[in-house]
Amino acid sequence: MCGIFGMLGQNAVADTLKALKTLEYRGYDSAGIAVKDGNGIKLFKTVGRVENLKDAIPSEVYGTLAIGHTRWATHGEVCQGNAHPFYSADKNFAIVHNGIIENHLSLKYQLSSVGVDFSSQTDSETVAHLLQKNYKNSVLDSVLATANQLEGSFAIVVANTYDDNLYAIKNKSPLVVGINRDGAYFCSDVRCLSRWVDKVAVAPDNVVAVANRQSVAFYDFKGNPVSVKFFAVENAEEISGADGDYMLKEILEIPEKIRQAKQGYFKSGGLSLPAKTVHRVKRIYLIGCGTAYNSGLEAAAIARKMLSIDVIPVIASEFIYDNYPVDSYTLAFFISQSGETADTIRAVEKVREQGGFTYAVTNTQASSLCFVCDKVKNIYADGEYAVASTKAYNCQLVTLLLLLTDVSYLKGAIDDETRKKIVESIDVLPTAIDKVLSNSYQIAKLAEEIKDSSAVFFIGRTADYPTACEGSLKLKEISYIHSEAYPAGELKHGTLALMEKGVTVVAIACDSLQIDKMALSISEVATRGAKVVCVSPYSFENTALLSIPVVNRYLYGILSVVPLQLLAYYVAKRLGRDVDKPRNLAKSVTVE
Ligand code: M6R
Repeated sequence: MCGIFGMLGQNAVADTLKALKTLEYRGYDSAGIAVKDGNGIKLFKTVGRVENLKDAIPSEVYGTLAIGHTRWATHGEVCQGNAHPFYSADKNFAIVHNGIIENHLSLKYQLSSVGVDFSSQTDSETVAHLLQKNYKNSVLDSVLATANQLEGSFAIVVANTYDDNLYAIKNKSPLVVGINRDGAYFCSDVRCLSRWVDKVAVAPDNVVAVANRQSVAFYDFKGNPVSVKFFAVENAEEISGADGDYMLKEILEIPEKIRQAKQGYFKSGGLSLPAKTVHRVKRIYLIGCGTAYNSGLEAAAIARKMLSIDVIPVIASEFIYDNYPVDSYTLAFFISQSGETADTIRAVEKVREQGGFTYAVTNTQASSLCFVCDKVKNIYADGEYAVASTKAYNCQLVTLLLLLTDVSYLKGAIDDETRKKIVESIDVLPTAIDKVLSNSYQIAKLAEEIKDSSAVFFIGRTADYPTACEGSLKLKEISYIHSEAYPAGELKHGTLALMEKGVTVVAIACDSLQIDKMALSISEVATRGAKVVCVSPYSFENTALLSIPVVNRYLYGILSVVPLQLLAYYVAKRLGRDVDKPRNLAKSVTVE
C-alpha cells in the first residue's frame, strides 16, 4: 500500500505536504518528505499522521524538487526509522516506495557483504543503496540497473543530487504522471494530481520515467524509449477538509449516488456487450476483495434468481492461486472501489491469460483496473475516502444488478417486462434509504446498548447472508469488536455454542420466503441469552427491530445494509475509535 508523491516545481514542500494529506487514506502509520535544495537532500519523517510531519518541518525549508510518502507498514514495525524516504549511504539518492520488493533479502545480503549498513527493517531501503552502488556517471543508467535487479511490485520515486531530474520506476504498483506548464509530478492517485495538472498518464509496468520541468520521458528497463499517452483529466473534488467524519458523509450520500449510478449506467451505454458475446457465456465470476467481494456475493445471490448458468463469487486472492475453470465462455466481473487492489488486478491477469472476458466495475476511472480489463463500467459513487467502504457498496450493487439483468435478458432468461420492472424498481430506493437515514437516532441508541458486546454475530439466509457479511465486516473493521457472519441455518452446526449473555446477534430477515426459518434462528439465539437486533420489513418477537421499507425482492441488499453501516459507525464513535482511519488498515491495498 502506501502513498507516494514526487514533484518538480515551485512550492514543492507545501504542495508535497498537501498531496500527502490527500494520500493519507493509503496509509497513516508514518509520513515523510525529502527536499532537494542547493545543499543536497534533506529528510523529514514522523510517526503517525501528516499533521505531525508538518510540525516537524522548519518553515524556512524550501526546494523545487520534493518526494513524499505516507506509509502502511508491511516490512518492519511502525517507527520513525522505518518511515520513508530513505537515503543511500552517501545521501546522494533518496527514495520513496509503494509495493513490496520480493527479493529484498538476497539484495540486502549482497549489499551487506560489501559493507552497506541498513538503518531500517524495510524492504524499500534496499533500493536507495542499490542506486548508489550502481551509479557511475549517469543517474538514468543507475536507475535502469537498479530496476533490473528488483523483483516484486514497486512504484518508486527517486531524488538525486547529481542532476535536476526526478526519476520513477514502476511495476505492478500504481503510478500516475502529470505535467503542467511549470512542472512534473509522480503520484499514486490520479485524483490527488488533478488539482495541479490537466494532463496525466498512467505509467505502464516495467518502465522508468524521467521528469524535468518541461517533459517526462519513459524507458523500458533496457533503456529503449516507450511511448505513453497523456490524457486530459478533470479536476476532482478536494479530498481533504470535510467537516466531521467521511464515513458518515459518505453514508448520507447514498440515496443521491444510487440515482447517479442508475442514470450513469444507461447514459454510458448499459452492458455494452454484443448479444452474440453474451449468448456464448456459460459461466460468470464476480471477483473482488472485502466489501467489493461482498457485493459480488450479493449480486450472485440475486443473479441465481434469474439465470440458470453458474454465477460464482470468488475472493480475488483465492482466485489467483486456486483452479477455477476459465475459458472463452467465461465472463468475469472485477469489482473494486479503488481500482488498485493488487489481488483483484492479479485475478484479472489470470482470467485474461486463460481466455476469459474481463469486465471492471469501479468508481475510479483511470485506475490500473480500468487499463487491464476488456470493458469498464463506472459505478458513479465518486471518491470514497473513509477506509470503511459504504456508498461504493450500494452503487456496486445497483450497477451489478443492472449488468446481470441485462445479461439475463440477452440470454433469454427473463423477458422484457421483468427487466423493465427491475430497472424501474430501483427508483424507489433513494426514498426508502432516506427513510432509514431519518431513523438514525434509533440506530445510535441501539449502538449505545450493544457497544460493550463481547462479540456480535450477523446472520441471514439466501440473499440476506451477503448483507450479514458486509454488516459484520463494517462493524469489526472500525469498532474492533469481534464479529462474524453466518448463514442463519448454519448456527446450529457449531456457532450456537458461543451464544450467551453479552453476545449480540444481528439478524437480517428480508427474504419473505425465509421468515419462519429466521424466526426460528432468532428464537434459538435469544433463548441462549443473546441480545437480538433485527433488520427487516417484518416484525419478530424478542428483537430490537430496525424496520426498513418494503421494496422489490432484488433490492433488499442495497437497502438493508444501510442500517448496518450506520450501526457500525455509531458503535465505533461511542467506543472513541477513529472511524475514518481504523488501526492496521488503509483504504487501498496495492500489495498482494
Ligand atoms: O478498493 P477495493 O474495493 O478493491 O477494496 C477492497 C477492500 O480492500 C475493501 O473493500 C475493504 O474491505 C474495505 N475496507 C471494507 O470496508
